[in-house]
Amino acid sequence: MRRMIAVFLFLAAVPLAAQHDAGKEGKGRHPAMGNPRAIEAGRKLFVNSCAGCHGVSAEGGRGPNLRKRGVWHPLEDDAMYTIIRKGLPGADMPASNLTEEQAWQVAAFVRSLTSPAMEHPPAGNVQAGEAVFWGKGGCQNCHRILGRGGMLGPDLSNVGATRATEDIRESVADPDADGFPRYKGATVVMADGRSLKGVARNRTNYSLQLQDAQGNLHMIDLAKAKQVRFAEHSPMPGNYKQLLTKQEMDDLIAFLSRQSVRPFDAAEKK
Ligand code: HEC
Ligand code: HEC
Repeated sequence: MRRMIAVFLFLAAVPLAAQHDAGKEGKGRHPAMGNPRAIEAGRKLFVNSCAGCHGVSAEGGRGPNLRKRGVWHPLEDDAMYTIIRKGLPGADMPASNLTEEQAWQVAAFVRSLTSPAMEHPPAGNVQAGEAVFWGKGGCQNCHRILGRGGMLGPDLSNVGATRATEDIRESVADPDADGFPRYKGATVVMADGRSLKGVARNRTNYSLQLQDAQGNLHMIDLAKAKQVRFAEHSPMPGNYKQLLTKQEMDDLIAFLSRQSVRPFDAAEKK
């Protein structure tokens, strides 16, 4: 019920947010910006028109990475639109043959790559995604949302406000992508033969904080440990791309992108 209210608030907040932005910038914001359907259309166009140079996940190639950049100077919406339509003359970025509407859709997608997911949310069925999270996906075994769920992985209550949609998607579909798991799975065998499994939270030369699946923290004196083994991979399962259908994945990402501890319009006003 609470979730339904949240969805309703979200839908109601979109026009308000657009008006708010119009006021802030002194001119109307193009309706494609922050619009889930436009972002989804832009994502498809991007694969055809831009991925050849910028990478399928905008990770960069012949053209720059559009998600994480060494020096990020945010482009104004209008400037982004103009670059997409006209290219960057002399800089190896060609003009595109996209229509005006399509160019705005691509701009909406590119903007979403560096914005909090909840402000530039993806299309997808939020309620269906919620069902995948608590059901088929088994995500709640390790993740909590608003106090409900497991403790082995990060709390996801605010993930939509702190990360961009495509970053969330990558975390779910390809958890080893960045190669630096923050939560290392660890198995410890103590001198007395007891063994403990969980994720390593904190480590010094002398001690290790191990959190088990129930959320209990064990402070382990390494002098008393017979063996400590760290997993190479993130404990987050790496096979969700196979386990879930494309639609289930899109719905799940749509659900996660709306997770925020603050209501949508409050976050929008900062
Ligand atoms: C033929 C290769 C190529 C294609 C195709 C291409 N780009 Fe680019 N793009 C580049 C290069 C190279 C640059 C860097 C230009 C520079 O700053 O010197 C660039 C720069 C950009 C920038 C500016 C980044 C910044 O902040 O300076 C954006 C935004 C961008 N591209 C988006 C797109 C989009 C969206 C598409 C698809 C419609 C696209 N590009 C298609 C090569 C390409
Ligand atoms: C066996 C435990 C486990 C299960 C099941 C699991 N995760 Fe994870 N997840 C983790 C751990 C641990 C991390 C931290 C990964 C790291 O830092 O390498 C993580 C990271 C994430 C992140 C990145 C969070 C952030 O703030 O960086 C997201 C998003 C996420 N998981 C979503 C999901 C979803 C959605 C599901 C279900 C489809 C799921 N996880 C299932 C353990 C799990």
